[in-house]
Amino acid sequence: MFTPRTIIEPFRIKSVEPIRQTTLAERSDALKAAHYNLFLVRARDVLIDLLTDSGTGAMSSRQWAGMMRGDESYAGADSFYRFEAAVQKITRLKHVMPTHQGRAAERILFTAMVNPGDVVPNNTHFDTTRANIEARGATALDIPIAAGLNPGQDHPFKGNMDLEALEQVLTSEAGRVPLVMMTVTNNSGGGQPVSLDNLRGASAICRLHQVPLFLDACRFAENSWFIKQREPGYEHQRPIEIAQAMFAEVDGATMSAKKDGMANIGGFLAMNDDALARRCRDNLILTEGFVTYGGLAGYDLEAIAIGLEEALDEDYLRYRIRSVAYLADRLATAGVPMVTPPGGHALYINARQMLPQIPQTEYPAWALSCALYLVGGVRSAEIGTMMFGRQPDGTEKPAAMELVRLAFPRRVYTQSHVDYLAEVLLYVYERRDTIRGMRIVEQPPTLRHFTAKLAPAHGEVIPTG
Ligand code: F0G
Repeated sequence: MFTPRTIIEPFRIKSVEPIRQTTLAERSDALKAAHYNLFLVRARDVLIDLLTDSGTGAMSSRQWAGMMRGDESYAGADSFYRFEAAVQKITRLKHVMPTHQGRAAERILFTAMVNPGDVVPNNTHFDTTRANIEARGATALDIPIAAGLNPGQDHPFKGNMDLEALEQVLTSEAGRVPLVMMTVTNNSGGGQPVSLDNLRGASAICRLHQVPLFLDACRFAENSWFIKQREPGYEHQRPIEIAQAMFAEVDGATMSAKKDGMANIGGFLAMNDDALARRCRDNLILTEGFVTYGGLAGYDLEAIAIGLEEALDEDYLRYRIRSVAYLADRLATAGVPMVTPPGGHALYINARQMLPQIPQTEYPAWALSCALYLVGGVRSAEIGTMMFGRQPDGTEKPAAMELVRLAFPRRVYTQSHVDYLAEVLLYVYERRDTIRGMRIVEQPPTLRHFTAKLAPAHGEVIPTG
């Protein structure tokens, strides 16, 4: 029997969008005009855009067809009920509220539950989650397992939470922990999965302390796939069954449908608690929209309802996870330091190890992301001291890791794009000794990485002669 070794893209392309080659001089001008902040570079000046996997995926022909069914009624639209059914099929959570994206779900949830002085533990908070908690005057506490902070260490579930630390904080901060969150996959920690065993452990501890557990479920489908591949006992289960088992452990979830909802916009907040749901719905109406559309169009709800199902397709997940691993294999051969094993939605380069000449005060991962853009028109994102270094009191603290995230949009790039990426990365890696650090010229008080202006601290970022 023919058993192919090549894992192909499980789709064919029906509609294409050109990407634009630029010259080195054009990229250099674009980077300067953007004050060395890739968030401020125009997308038309980017060749391969790996800034994020959020909202950047290609929708299927089924999703586009579904959008034509969008019921735009203000209240009680059919699209809402199809959306609600799709979410409940996977989560089995009682109350489902659409929101315009994940951070809106976070803000509504935290407004209802979190007070000044509270502590919210998480395996690792994403930037918006952290900022929304801090905006409530509370502390966002990251408690990943030790392996999760060691980029080169192999571990099947580096996204796991340190359950001893959880037990400790629930005891020492009793009464001040309104909820615990678990992020799947752990984005800021390298796109690493959480095992069902760890989730069950966290759930048991939370129940004992009578504190609700919420899933930050953005990449729940990718997490399900990793469980299927790596956790004994789940190899024969379907991704949807594993996802259902994950959601069965929690009291609620926040979700950005821009990731494993396979949509360009949208999210939801879901929970079982009736009283909490009532408070959240009041806030939803105040800021997002009526409870059956939550800031989305009816057609967005349709796209998400179909996308949630497509994200759990086995052929899709196999291809998705393999695309990232394929790039990792090519880089590993050359010795490029990375978070290993590779993440589900992204590959994370360990800039601290790659660029020992740049101190954390000069943002090594930021410098590397600028170098990748200059050399190959590749846009990536820093996950390091620029993103997490600024403390709520205005002081600066080095981040736990200095990573450059190469996030893969869903169903967008093909293997030759990835081959090109590998070439760019290897070229830059060979010249790593010449990369120089950055300094901040201007920065806002919170979420500074989105809009800060920077400059090279010593001459050019990378000589590109
Ligand atoms: N939680 C996690 C784990 C995320 O990765 C994100 C977004 C959010 C919450 C917020 O969702 O963007 O819909 O408001 N992450 C994107 C990223 C932006 O690039 O990783 P949102």
